[in-house]
Amino acid sequence: MVDDLKKGLEGVLVAESELSSIDGDEGRLIYRGYTIEDLARGASYEEVLYLLWHGHLPAEDELESFAAALTEERAVSDDVLATMERLADADEQPMAALRTAVSMFSATEPESDAEADDLEASLRKGRRITAKIPTALAAFERYRLGEEPIDPDPDLGLAANFLYMLTGEQPDDVAAETFDQALILHADHGLNASTFTSMVIGSTMADIYSAVTGGVSALSGPLHGGANQDVMEVLMEIDESNKDPLEWVEEATDEGRRIPGFGHRVYNVKDPRARILQERSKELAAEGNSKWYDITTTIEEYLTEEKGLVEKGIAPNVDFYSGSVYYQLGIPIDMYTPIFAMSRAGGWIAHVLEYQEDNRLIRPRARYTGPENQEFVPLEER
Ligand code: CMC
Repeated sequence: MVDDLKKGLEGVLVAESELSSIDGDEGRLIYRGYTIEDLARGASYEEVLYLLWHGHLPAEDELESFAAALTEERAVSDDVLATMERLADADEQPMAALRTAVSMFSATEPESDAEADDLEASLRKGRRITAKIPTALAAFERYRLGEEPIDPDPDLGLAANFLYMLTGEQPDDVAAETFDQALILHADHGLNASTFTSMVIGSTMADIYSAVTGGVSALSGPLHGGANQDVMEVLMEIDESNKDPLEWVEEATDEGRRIPGFGHRVYNVKDPRARILQERSKELAAEGNSKWYDITTTIEEYLTEEKGLVEKGIAPNVDFYSGSVYYQLGIPIDMYTPIFAMSRAGGWIAHVLEYQEDNRLIRPRARYTGPENQEFVPLEER
């Protein structure tokens, strides 16, 4: 008999993991024991992927061959490109295009015959998916602009190469480093909804392509990955309203509106990733236009100091400052959630493989609250 119902699985432990840990009261996040601050400051996204997938930070030679293997897998098939073009022409949402692309990648998988429990092969498949996502996404954006896709540049790391394929211009060091940091910050985050979705799929011993496709789907919702786009839309709404940001946020909270980028199921204090992104947003603002940074800080101060939301455990999450960072890097607003997916794919793959090492089918139960003993009436008599 199941009688302990935990709606939303809040606080329920379903697995052991060595990958990441969140202290929601202290605002601390670690990947395999390393603080997110140290990783964001000192590592590259490729190093973090290696850490998550192989259990330790790579030595120089390990990183070199790992990065080379990722670089080699960047190209996507002509079929994927043609599909990105069709979807761009049809005005499809970028997250839907990405979901379709990841699903299509399996058609050219050289190890498609590998057994589901061949975890080494699954890791190589995961590496191929991670390498191809930026290429497919950038191609989708180029087609939307009526331009041809740009081939990956093997001399650039994953973050810089994505910006290059997106814009056709080599990013400067600040842009490349900022974007690389954003990818590190989003790479893993315990059993969030999309990671758990990937694990549920992986627990059936379905392949890693299915698990990542499911992760993209779960991330697309506004309560999860979609919030970063919502934040930027709110900032633009404020700007276009010509209202003082303070007046706008007072009205919005009086109307009971939820402010995107605030609140988190696990953090009761400010998300450490928001602290780092806030710094980056401030630096970018100092070089260019401080409007977006100023609006975000006004909202944060009001909600924190006037409304006392932080005392209620509602504080800025990772999305609150990522929107203004991406905007200042010139990334289109509806690409923010796909970028989150681009990074989080690394975490999904790590969690699925870790779980499959000691797999148990994930199969919870619901408490039945429907009627009992209904008398069946044949269709013609209803
Ligand atoms: N703005 C204003 N009030 C809020 C907000 C917000 N963004 N989020 C929660 N609250 C209030 C909510 O109204 C409720 O108040 P009361 O108890 O008076 O009814 C209280 O805080 C608890 O809310 P909840 O919905 O029970 O909290 P939850 O843990 O289920 O929800 C959340 C977490 C992320 C879904 C929610 O905070 C939210 O909708 N935030 C906005 C969307 C967002 O930023 N999502 C990104 C999450 S972080 C990235 C990720 O991990 O994907």
